Amino acid sequence: MKSAVCPGSFDPITYGHLDIVARASARFDQVIVAVLENRTKSSLFTVDERIEMIRDTTKSLGNVVVDSWYGLLVDYCTANNIGTIVKGLRAVTDFDYELQMAQINYQAAKVETMFMATSPTHSFLSSSIVKELAHFGGDVSTMVPPIVHDALRIRLAGE
Ligand code: PNS
Repeated sequence: MKSAVCPGSFDPITYGHLDIVARASARFDQVIVAVLENRTKSSLFTVDERIEMIRDTTKSLGNVVVDSWYGLLVDYCTANNIGTIVKGLRAVTDFDYELQMAQINYQAAKVETMFMATSPTHSFLSSSIVKELAHFGGDVSTMVPPIVHDALRIRLAGE
């Protein structure tokens, strides 16, 4: 069985992430969406809240499972016998960091990274932009699924 992991902080999941997950699910037998910590970012949602939103928004994809991991991505891959990481590339600005990660993960455990070109309709999208827009009352309804939209509204109202 060919499995791939789509890793990320998913704080929260956006239509851009979902596009990559859906396309990966069409190419692999199983796709694991893994919520990991990005130590350069502070989070709005707990890991459990993020998992719940991802589970809800990927439930129509029969071969997608959701998991979380505290530690290195490469250790998650090794522990779960996963040989491929799938990541979306939005623009050339993503490339330096992603290339470095891909090289580190290959050198550490021969885990391959496959990059998918983000759909142009989502190339400007990021969780950080969504949070910033939502924080100041901007309309993010075309950027995130309704369940995420509601969660953002509730969380930001409580800030
Ligand atoms: O959605 P993000 O924030 O761009 O995802 C980045 C993430 C979480 C995939 C990345 O930070 C990560 O892999 N974190 C786990 C720790 C790790 O393996 N770091 C890379 C080697 S230093």
